[in-house]
Amino acid sequence: MLSTLVTIACVLASANVRAASSNFTCTDVASGHLVLGTTSDSSDAERLKALGPLDQTDNAYISYDSSPPLFTLESCNSTYMGFPPNMTWQEGYLVVYGRWKLNGKCVTAGSDGALALKTCATADGKALVTQFFDTTFDAPTGVVSAKAETQLIGYTTNDTSLAMYTTVTRHRTTDVVSQTETPPFNDGGSERRILFYLEPTSGKLPF
Ligand SMILES: *[C@@H]1O[C@H](CO)[C@@H](O)[C@H](O)[C@H]1NC(C)=O
Ligand SMILES: *[C@@H]1O[C@H](CO)[C@@H](O)[C@H](O)[C@H]1NC(C)=O
Ligand SMILES: *[C@@H]1O[C@H](CO)[C@@H](O)[C@H](O)[C@H]1NC(C)=O
Ligand SMILES: *[C@@H]1O[C@H](CO)[C@@H](O)[C@H](O)[C@H]1NC(C)=O
Repeated sequence: MLSTLVTIACVLASANVRAASSNFTCTDVASGHLVLGTTSDSSDAERLKALGPLDQTDNAYISYDSSPPLFTLESCNSTYMGFPPNMTWQEGYLVVYGRWKLNGKCVTAGSDGALALKTCATADGKALVTQFFDTTFDAPTGVVSAKAETQLIGYTTNDTSLAMYTTVTRHRTTDVVSQTETPPFNDGGSERRILFYLEPTSGKLPF
């Protein structure tokens, strides 16, 4: 009897360990360019600046890039994060939950919110909070549209949701795209957001 209970306890314990360290899998959804969009009170037009890693070093910051690389959006079934790979809203929006990758690395928010290309988290745990973005496609058909707005989520479905803002911070002499919980200082009424542009099959990029 006792040994049966011990056996059951051991089975449960190992099941828990497996669940806690379970690995998630990710699926490529789309590939395209990341762009910083800025609007201001003084102009109706949104200014667009393509983004990429600052250099080839490890943990390169995400900054402006005149020859923008193609990032890959992947959706992931992380139990820790709790979001589904994607969700369709009645209004016709498709929201993809997952990561932005380039050369095998993931766009990651640092402790100060600055985005950089860092090693992708492999464990289904806390580190994913710094790499999980929601990307909202205007897609009544459930298929990704040519343009989407994307932002770091910053919390799991078990946490209280919070609003994240896109801003630009200075690191040495470089402007680095950042994600912050604090509303950015509103210089001239400017507002920023990160946009994703699907790799065009033909024609010129709008940025
Ligand atoms: C999960 O990923 C880690 C890191 O890559 C690896 O060491 C571990 O064996 C994986 N676990 C499972 C259950 O696949
Ligand atoms: C994620 O999906 C893979 C493949 O379908 C599956 O093997 C794995 O168990 C899933 N992981 C989670 C955490 O749902
Ligand atoms: C989220 O909360 C549920 C209910 O309290 C719990 O069972 C689950 O383990 C939590 N998930 C994570 C990843 O902490
Ligand atoms: C959305 O998720 C479902 C599975 O939940 C998958 O079949 C479908 O391909 C996904 N759509 C996109 C655009 O990733």
